[in-house]
Amino acid sequence: MTFDRTIKIAPSILSADFANFGQEIQAIEAQGCDWVHVDVMDGHFVPNLTFGPPLLKAIRPHIKTVMDVHLMIAPVDPYIDAYADAGADVLTAHLEAGPHIHRTLQAIRAAGCKAGLALNPGTGLDDVAHLLDMIDLVCVMTVNPGFGGQKFIHSQIEKVRQLRAMIGDRPIHIEIDGGITPETAPLMAAAGADVLVAGSGVFKGGSVSDPAPYGDNIRAIRAAAEAAQS
Ligand code: DX5
Ligand code: ZN
Repeated sequence: MTFDRTIKIAPSILSADFANFGQEIQAIEAQGCDWVHVDVMDGHFVPNLTFGPPLLKAIRPHIKTVMDVHLMIAPVDPYIDAYADAGADVLTAHLEAGPHIHRTLQAIRAAGCKAGLALNPGTGLDDVAHLLDMIDLVCVMTVNPGFGGQKFIHSQIEKVRQLRAMIGDRPIHIEIDGGITPETAPLMAAAGADVLVAGSGVFKGGSVSDPAPYGDNIRAIRAAAEAAQS
């Protein structure tokens, strides 16, 4: 993975057909996505339950781009090696998941993955300053984590603007996650985000037998974001 700040579209397979992950991944990549976002939920840190390491291992060979794994679990540390072994390129843990986020980020890099730090909408940026030299990505949640299809929280625009200034020239991606559409993407691209996660916004209207709408949705989000990127 080389670093740049071009707009990257990362569809969340939380909105895919769960009976057809291989074909769904093939379809979104053929339709032009840049990364594949995998939402791991534990029914404890967030009120929903999704994918374990064996599922990730099974879908990994279908991903030709980047496997971007968002861990919404607590504790995180006992599972880092399993998700790294399953083939995660980026492994993102939540700041709120426990008292030892510094140790968690060290362990993610030690496992050979890019380290991501996710922030819930109610979490401020103060603690991030102490972690900047050990992260490759910050994921600013633009919904409360747990479910796809929720409404974008506008107060996160200012957070991304401040985070972008804090990051400066460091090679750290700003990812936004939740409620991203051609209407909300440009607000975040202008504020400094470069990786745009979209679940319902990419998968709506399409299917594995009719994947063209995935491409239309990806292009619409990308075009709106690129036109606004600062
Ligand atoms: C929310 C997840 C998101 C979510 C995005 O907990 O982290 O990745 O699936 O879905 P949409 O784009 O539908 O808000
Ligand atoms: Zn996510």
